[in-house]
Amino acid sequence: GSILVLNGPNLNLLGTREPAIYGSATLDDVATLTAAAANAAGFGAECIQSNHEGDLVDALHGARGTAVAIIINAGAYTHTSVAIRDAIAAVELPAVEVHISNVHQREEFRRHSYLSAVCQAVIVGAGIHGYELAVSYLDKTLP
Ligand code: DQA
Repeated sequence: GSILVLNGPNLNLLGTREPAIYGSATLDDVATLTAAAANAAGFGAECIQSNHEGDLVDALHGARGTAVAIIINAGAYTHTSVAIRDAIAAVELPAVEVHISNVHQREEFRRHSYLSAVCQAVIVGAGIHGYELAVSYLDKTLP
C-alpha cells in the first residue's frame, strides 16, 4: 500500500524559508527521506505539496480507496481549516499530523490545530525527522 504525504502552504519554500525555525533541508529532501523510510517499511509514498486549501482537500479525497494512510503537514491551514479536518475525517484512513517546528514554543495561535482531533498521532518539533517518525508509527500500527 501507499502512504499519501501531504504538505501544505509555504512548505515548497523549505530550505530557504525561516531556516532558523524550519532548517535547511528542502521539500525534495523531505520527499526523498520520507519515501525511503516508507519503502524500507514496505510502503509506497506519494508526496504532494500545494499552497491551495481546495487542492489539499482534493488530494485527501483521492486517497480514499487508494492509500493506506496519510501523513499531513498542513502548514498554516492546520490552524484555520475546518475543510481539511472534515476531509481527513471523511476518508477514514489513519492520519498522522506532522509539524517540523515545535508549535508550542511559538506564537499562541499555532498551539491550536483543527486537525489533531481527527489524526491518530501528532508529531511536532522533531524537524524533518518527524516525517520518518510518522512512517515508523504507521509501520508499527497499520494492520
Ligand atoms: C508548520 C507550523 C505551522 O504553524 C506553520 O504555519 C507552517 C509550518 C511546521 O511544520 O512547523 O507553515 O506546520
